[in-house]
Amino acid sequence: MIERIGIIGVGHLASYLVEGLRRASHNIEIILSPRNAERAVSLADQFGATVAKNNQAVVDTTDVIILTTRPEDTITVSENVAFQSGQTVISVAIGLSVETLKPVISPATVVRAMPISCAALNQSPTLIFPDNPKARELFTLLGQVHILPHESDFTPASVIAAFYGWIYALCDEVISWTAQTGVPQHTARSLVLETVRGAVNMALTNPDKELDMMLKTLVTPGGITEQGLNILHQQQGLTAWSDALETVLKRLSKSK
Ligand SMILES: NC(=O)c1ccc[n+]([C@@H]2O[C@H](COP(=O)([O-])OP(=O)(O)OC[C@H]3O[C@@H](n4cnc5c(N)ncnc54)[C@H](OP(=O)(O)O)[C@@H]3O)[C@@H](O)[C@H]2O)c1
Repeated sequence: MIERIGIIGVGHLASYLVEGLRRASHNIEIILSPRNAERAVSLADQFGATVAKNNQAVVDTTDVIILTTRPEDTITVSENVAFQSGQTVISVAIGLSVETLKPVISPATVVRAMPISCAALNQSPTLIFPDNPKARELFTLLGQVHILPHESDFTPASVIAAFYGWIYALCDEVISWTAQTGVPQHTARSLVLETVRGAVNMALTNPDKELDMMLKTLVTPGGITEQGLNILHQQQGLTAWSDALETVLKRLSKSK
């Protein structure tokens, strides 16, 4: 069982991970790197973590270390600390392959992971490659774990982390439209988000039903759902999403 987790790179993602870890367990010790002292101290106070004196001290006190630095910093950060065999080092840096990470993380074991911010609520679907018992245990605390059999799947699957952000943009657009019709803002917000949650929960609780079949049951010929869908199709409102996914994939495929 994991008793201590070290986190190097205390930024946005680290904050979500710390919150989720503490929600999941009061016993796990969380050790944070000191850079961005204000955020590290605030997280330590709020969630009972410890701020180490430097990055090496994070590594020296834990067997499982998450590198939550930006991709361009992750290699340098790793080069400047000494990992030990028997440690598991998890990189969340988008676009950095296991082969790229291995030389700077060796002799520790390298794992790639792709959690998203709802880890704070223990609801993050998290991609992992390669399968690793410590990484699986850790991310199961933060939501659902998806082990990818091949690293070549990791990049396309990571694009969904960007899609996660676009969902906020879509909901914001629909909430703004609803509110400008005169519906109170707080009602518009709840109505839209609860509608999305309802649709998602229906789909998740019916894993054998294809979404297009579920949609068919909602579309009355000549009705309002059909009318709006026709406009979305005519204006490439749906294929624009595939175009955005494809563009992000191309960019990620160029990184190492
Ligand atoms: N944000 C997300 O929801 C999300 C989701 C999935 C994956 N990711 C991945 O997670 C990583 C972090 O993303 P983020 O959005 O959390 O970025 P962020 O907010 O910029 O956090 C990165 C943190 O690392 C710190 N850092 C840089 N060099 C360091 C060093 N030598 N030692 C210790 N800390 C150092 C940065 O400090 P300074 O600001 O002082 O440079 C910053 O606080 C990225 O690789 C990203 O691809 C993020």
